[in-house]
Amino acid sequence: MKKKVISLMLCACMAMAAVGCGGKKFDNPDKGEDLIMATNAYFEPYEYYEGDAVTGIDVEIAQAIADKLGLTLKVEDMEFDSIIAAVNSGKAHIGVAGMTVTEDRLKNVDFSDPYTTATQVIIVQEGSEITGGDDLVGKKIGVQLGTTGDLFAAEIEDVQLEQYNKGMDAVQALAGGMIDAVIIDNEPAKQFVSKAEGLQILDEEFAVEEYAIAVAKGNEELLDDINKALDAIIADGTVKGIVDKYITAE
Ligand code: ARG
Repeated sequence: MKKKVISLMLCACMAMAAVGCGGKKFDNPDKGEDLIMATNAYFEPYEYYEGDAVTGIDVEIAQAIADKLGLTLKVEDMEFDSIIAAVNSGKAHIGVAGMTVTEDRLKNVDFSDPYTTATQVIIVQEGSEITGGDDLVGKKIGVQLGTTGDLFAAEIEDVQLEQYNKGMDAVQALAGGMIDAVIIDNEPAKQFVSKAEGLQILDEEFAVEEYAIAVAKGNEELLDDINKALDAIIADGTVKGIVDKYITAE
């Protein structure tokens, strides 16, 4: 008898949980609703401010996905290391921020299919004694907090790690002689170096990475929608067109 009561209660709980699930409209926006993209808009050419508006490769890709899904794209700018939490808490539907797929991040979020590749590079002052990764031992290295560059730098022997909220802040510290090198993604590196004086990017490329769109862990429906739209705009050349618009081949 007692058993029956418990199982009945269990049923009621499950039914309530199911209703709760059906009500999570925000997770998977319906047509006409907002698709909220979390990003960190200090990462040219992927996302950056032009006046008051955030633009760049990631924003245009997200816009093309929103168009395919019949949604209105809204961009939320935040610290890079807040993006995964924003996506998981439902503050944003997607994280699009030149974000590299890593094993560690996959424990907390799901990633779409990759939409581009990138590398990590080393920026130094012109004429620096640092000519490759091996010379970084014991050096003062600047990174953007929470990025893969941060993770790589942390592994260097005797490193003096300097974490900045923005990549450009690290590059400015390097230009000002406060640190010895910066480890960061290759395309933003080019942009940052062009805006500072006396810096160069070393030829050696650290790691090849894939950028993808982050979605809350376990939200298969949304991930599926994003992947279908993304795959379509990769297949029809839209993504390549967007990338080529911002990145001119050497
Ligand atoms: N690709 C690197 C990472 O995923 C850096 C990304 C930084 N992105 C940004 N919008 N600030 O860790």
